[in-house]
Amino acid sequence: MTTWFITGISRGLGLALARAVLAQGDSVIGTVRAGRPEITTGAERLQVLTLDMLDAPAVPAAVERAFALAGGRIDVIVNNAGYGLLGAIEPATDAELARLFEVDVFAPFRIIRAALPRLRAQGSGHIINITSIAGRAPGVGSGLYAAAKYALEGLSASLALEVGPLGIKVTAVAPGAFRTDFLSAHSIRHSAADAAYADSVGRSDAHFTAMAGRQAGDPDQAAQAILALARAEDPPLHLLLGSDALRRFRVKQETMAAEIEAWREVTLGTDYPA
Ligand SMILES: NC(=O)c1ccc[n+]([C@@H]2O[C@H](COP(=O)([O-])OP(=O)(O)OC[C@H]3O[C@@H](n4cnc5c(N)ncnc54)[C@H](OP(=O)(O)O)[C@@H]3O)[C@@H](O)[C@H]2O)c1
Repeated sequence: MTTWFITGISRGLGLALARAVLAQGDSVIGTVRAGRPEITTGAERLQVLTLDMLDAPAVPAAVERAFALAGGRIDVIVNNAGYGLLGAIEPATDAELARLFEVDVFAPFRIIRAALPRLRAQGSGHIINITSIAGRAPGVGSGLYAAAKYALEGLSASLALEVGPLGIKVTAVAPGAFRTDFLSAHSIRHSAADAAYADSVGRSDAHFTAMAGRQAGDPDQAAQAILALARAEDPPLHLLLGSDALRRFRVKQETMAAEIEAWREVTLGTDYPA
């Protein structure tokens, strides 16, 4: 039986994952900001901690408590809690940026930092960071969210190199659009609208609003994918979830490769002569 620590199990992907982990007979220590998640099957193997990611000192304390509840050993840590911020970059405020990074970047970092001494002592563990396709192939109107998820992607990639030799695995899971509360008024935040960006950001905002509740991604299937990931002997550093994520990633990858190739001579011209 494996023990999972999952942040943000009140709703959405975190709730679907917690249910799936419990349904397969494993244990979950999950965090919520308030209340209790709606979980019945396997509830005897679920322990819930209250944690708001904006409360910085509470984050490592929750990790300590989770290891204590787990009897000292946690096998999989999933940094899932997070939210999106939509709008143009220009009108966004420092406070919006700081809050977003506090929840989507600093909190996962604090969790990882607090957990690593324990995972190193175990000589095992799998850290799964839920990023976003916005953190690999950003679109218009979600630049700050993309910046936050890029940060978590970068951290994950470097972390994998640092802790791989110590027996700890790392995966950055980048979902496309999934049918959770993510785009609902309960979750998503918006920077002030700016008429200068009506044709770009305004359109993408309208597109996101229309997409809410109709996203192609099924959270229960995402949960099954993450179970498979955690079972894998040799899990990938990068995993995309959803056909839209794959489409967006491929376009980004091809465009980037072509651009870098087109400017190859300039790139190679900046070294000192051999
Ligand atoms: N759904 C998508 O289309 C999509 C796409 C790409 C990436 N993602 C990522 O997937 C993850 C899960 O999102 P979701 O789709 O499941 O969205 P969701 O349905 O809105 O759920 C978000 C979860 O994060 C928690 N959370 C938000 N702010 C928090 C805070 N300050 N402290 C503690 N917990 C907090 C929420 O808790 P409360 O119930 O207390 O608010 C909730 O459990 C996020 O990291 C998101 O960026 C989602």
